[in-house]
Amino acid sequence: MVISIKKICCIGAGYVGGPTMAVMSFKCPEVLINVVDVNQERIDAWNSEDLSKLPIYEPGLKEIVGKTRDKNLFFSTRIKESIENADMIFISVNTPTKKKGLGAGKASDLKWVETSAREVAKFSKGHTIVVEKSTLPVRTAEVIQKILKSAEKESKKQIKSFSVLSNPEFLAEGTAINDLLNPDRVLIGGDNKEAMSSLSQIYKKWVSENKILFTNIWSSELAKLTSNAFLAQRISSINSISSICEVTGADIREVSRSIGKDTRIGSKFLDSGPGFGGSCFKKDILNLVYLAEYFGLKDVAKFWESVVEMNNWHQKRIAEKVVQKLFGTLANKKIIILGFSFKANTNDTRESAAINICKDLINEGANLIIHDPKVSPTQIENDLRIKQSNSFELNEITYKKDQGNWQFSRNLDKFDNAHAVLILTEWEDFKNINWIDAARKMVSPAWVFDSRSIVNPIKVKEAGLNLWRLGDGIQNDN
Ligand SMILES: NC(=O)c1ccc[n+]([C@@H]2O[C@H](COP(=O)([O-])OP(=O)(O)OC[C@H]3O[C@@H](n4cnc5c(N)ncnc54)[C@H](O)[C@@H]3O)[C@@H](O)[C@H]2O)c1
Repeated sequence: MVISIKKICCIGAGYVGGPTMAVMSFKCPEVLINVVDVNQERIDAWNSEDLSKLPIYEPGLKEIVGKTRDKNLFFSTRIKESIENADMIFISVNTPTKKKGLGAGKASDLKWVETSAREVAKFSKGHTIVVEKSTLPVRTAEVIQKILKSAEKESKKQIKSFSVLSNPEFLAEGTAINDLLNPDRVLIGGDNKEAMSSLSQIYKKWVSENKILFTNIWSSELAKLTSNAFLAQRISSINSISSICEVTGADIREVSRSIGKDTRIGSKFLDSGPGFGGSCFKKDILNLVYLAEYFGLKDVAKFWESVVEMNNWHQKRIAEKVVQKLFGTLANKKIIILGFSFKANTNDTRESAAINICKDLINEGANLIIHDPKVSPTQIENDLRIKQSNSFELNEITYKKDQGNWQFSRNLDKFDNAHAVLILTEWEDFKNINWIDAARKMVSPAWVFDSRSIVNPIKVKEAGLNLWRLGDGIQNDN
């Protein structure tokens, strides 16, 4: 029997759980959605009256939350009660790479998923459809099913029963709301036709039927990992070509445009940048590597691991280029870092290329002024594991140690006495910098390093600044 879903619980109020449920509540006003999390601070932020204080920045998110919150969308830490009342439960908790034990460094840590499944097993009532929204290694549904089955057996008079589905999320941070409103596809994996139909009824409220794909549960789990692996592979591929452009006199923007016209290749994901970041690409590829190794497919594992290795090499190469251009030393030099989030339009810094690049520059003795429109200085401090300095003045470098330091600036006008500007995130504001004004304040000779191809090279050069752009074998100053 196809159950019409009236009450949903989403476990995990993160970058996926929050926006996904906000859009679902907006499109399904008749469904009551409870988003629960163990993190009280995060829940408080989701409930803040001032919508600009939501824990996640995504264009369009606060407008949707403003329309549905406290109507049919609720954020709380009431996990037991929300599970008890739900017909359908989305598990949307974090699945980071394991730090220790078997599979450390590659396999996903499933402890949050397991805890969630145990909570569902314990508190649910009647028949519940459990949906894997988190990205999970292939055959994780089996683990969830086993935990839930034991609860079914224990429950007297069959008062509990479950169906498990996989419904991976394909949103990209920075465009999450648009991706959720207009998905390329919705993937539903499972073997229970009724449960699959119940979930599809929800999506059908705003997604056309031909975009809803049904697969078996293992294909659905593997499709998500594969999708991220393919996207990351494209980034490593184009970044590897950018280094060839620089030594041969080719230009990566021209190469990308030319190959992107080939309909077999397509034009998306062909922008060379400082290397992929975000919480998913690296973790999901490493997960795939672990899976291949586990099944004895060594060459397959090696192939996918090289995508991550290329990304690491590429990030190092950018920091090295800065050192090389600034006469081999950064000691007591001031460098303006523009952008710390892993991409524009998000405050997420997980695995951001900026983390390793800034650490390398600080190790070389640089004093960094880090500017980002949405990332907080506390987050940067956590990522760099170096406290923000208050001991070097903005106008006068007084820092005289081998190890450099950093300060945060929310304003985009701190170019005084800077030796270089390094653009790491493609925020719109950075396209409109007045380079003549900036050059007046900087020391001479000064450099602009553009890892995102967003500056106008002519304007930078007319301002008397040296320019290095990623993959530019034609214009780069030597
Ligand atoms: N961030 C993305 O762009 C993205 C895109 C697609 C898929 N995914 C996948 O979605 C999943 C979630 O990612 P995210 O970025 O939202 O993670 P996140 O870390 O932002 O959020 C996860 C939330 O789950 C909460 N949580 C953990 N265990 C819990 C429990 N037992 N009960 C209640 N709450 C619990 C955490 O406190 C946290 O707030 C991951 O598997 C990720 O790979 C992420």
